[in-house]
Amino acid sequence: MSLTTSLRKADLGTVATPLLVVAVPQGAMPASLAALDGAAGGALARLYSSGDFAGKKDQVASVYPAGPAARILLVGAGAAADASGRSLRRAAAVGGKRARLTGVADAVYYLAPEARGAVSVADATQATAEGLMYGSWSFDALKLPPEEVKPLLERVEILAQGPDAEAGHTRGAAIGAAQALTRGLQILPSNTCTPSFLVGQAQDIAGRHKFGLTVLDLAAIEKEGMGALLAVGKGSAEDPRFIALEYKGSKDAPVVLVGKGVTFDTGGISIKPAERMEDMKYDMSGAAAVLGAFEALGRLRPKVHVIGLIPTAENMLSGTAYKPGDVVRAMSGKHIEVINTDAEGRLLLADALHYARRYNPACVLDIATLTGAVVSALGHTAAAVIGTDDALIEEIRRAGDRSGERVWQLPLWEEFRDLIKSDIADVKNSGGRPAGTITAAWFLREFAEGYPWAHLDIAGTAYTQREDAGSVKGPTGMGVRLFAEFVLARQG
Ligand code: BES
Ligand code: MN
Ligand code: ZN
Repeated sequence: MSLTTSLRKADLGTVATPLLVVAVPQGAMPASLAALDGAAGGALARLYSSGDFAGKKDQVASVYPAGPAARILLVGAGAAADASGRSLRRAAAVGGKRARLTGVADAVYYLAPEARGAVSVADATQATAEGLMYGSWSFDALKLPPEEVKPLLERVEILAQGPDAEAGHTRGAAIGAAQALTRGLQILPSNTCTPSFLVGQAQDIAGRHKFGLTVLDLAAIEKEGMGALLAVGKGSAEDPRFIALEYKGSKDAPVVLVGKGVTFDTGGISIKPAERMEDMKYDMSGAAAVLGAFEALGRLRPKVHVIGLIPTAENMLSGTAYKPGDVVRAMSGKHIEVINTDAEGRLLLADALHYARRYNPACVLDIATLTGAVVSALGHTAAAVIGTDDALIEEIRRAGDRSGERVWQLPLWEEFRDLIKSDIADVKNSGGRPAGTITAAWFLREFAEGYPWAHLDIAGTAYTQREDAGSVKGPTGMGVRLFAEFVLARQG
């Protein structure tokens, strides 16, 4: 069961709740808290004058008034002059995480208007709903219940009203739920989350939202001539699959989203070191982001035509695995020399990018945990975006900024292409260490023919080892909010 948010019209000073979370701007106690402070017998004013709390970003303080709210949690949102969707989402995430850890089933959230700065009510409410769901997310399905069972956070009422707040909340709640779905898939171990399991998830989403769904099994993948996807999957006891989802919210040419669905990446015969190999269960994060984007589409039903493509396989080593030096024929007819079986993501994406042509797409966006090199370039702070169309990249960059899932462009200059020239085939699947994120993109570019295309490398941002005030270790759901913003902005 995940969190449900709703809007509520109520008086801040009289709202009865086990936990009232109040996001405030940096500085003195905002005037909008006067009635609440009165109901709390001046406890807020005393907190501020103690100097223990000043509303700085991520700063929190608890007050236990005698009034109708059992607890008041103040959350610093930082300087109002710098307020953005990003900072307001963050404040809600900090509040959401604290609410979950407090162990209350219900809470109320209030964003002091003084903290909103220049952000619109709609955007602030959207960011708040997204942040509450993001910060309170947790995964406990595989642990026995603790001895002292605390209630799970089930409902947060956001104190806001009016059509703008409602519109923002509708978006934020849908996108927040979609992102939670993605994180729930990402975190699953690879012995559960196999290619056929992802098919089941796509069927579930398609069934609930009445999407078109095509699934190719091994025989159908062979028949389509998807030799690159086949090569990656052939070392595993789990057969590969190819999933195509369709949401037809308009009659226009579709936006095609392609997600890398490697359910576990051992590296294959070019095996990875054991250190942190367990994280390679996250190598289906691109696929999970596409599924989450469709969950958001199903909930919001914008007037946009969207296709989701997921090539999915497990990259294993075995007597049937593909090997370095092998040459495989991709669906496009191009021959690929396999230099490194650990550069598997680009192989299955190659066939998906070629498959995308049949839709005459308006544009194709692929998303993949594709290269370790993107971590060297951008750390865990931004995804790389690389593509063939500057206007499309700008559109993605803006969606990234709005959603708080930021991307940074790397160049696709012709010089980098030389690094993936093969002596015996059309292209090779690895250009070695230099500019690894760009040469991977150049490889994809060889198959992304006939439409505007952009690639997102989320290897550094799909999951995190860091725990902080507003987030937990593990999957981030990277891409869901960005895709949702991208598609919503394309509505006619
Ligand atoms: N799934 C990995 C990329 C990855 C690395 C994701 C670290 C998350 C964290 C991908 O399949 C891979 O192995 N890429 C290789 C490519 C190389 C062999 C050309 C890499 O980045 O080392
Ligand atoms: Mn790999
Ligand atoms: Zn991989």
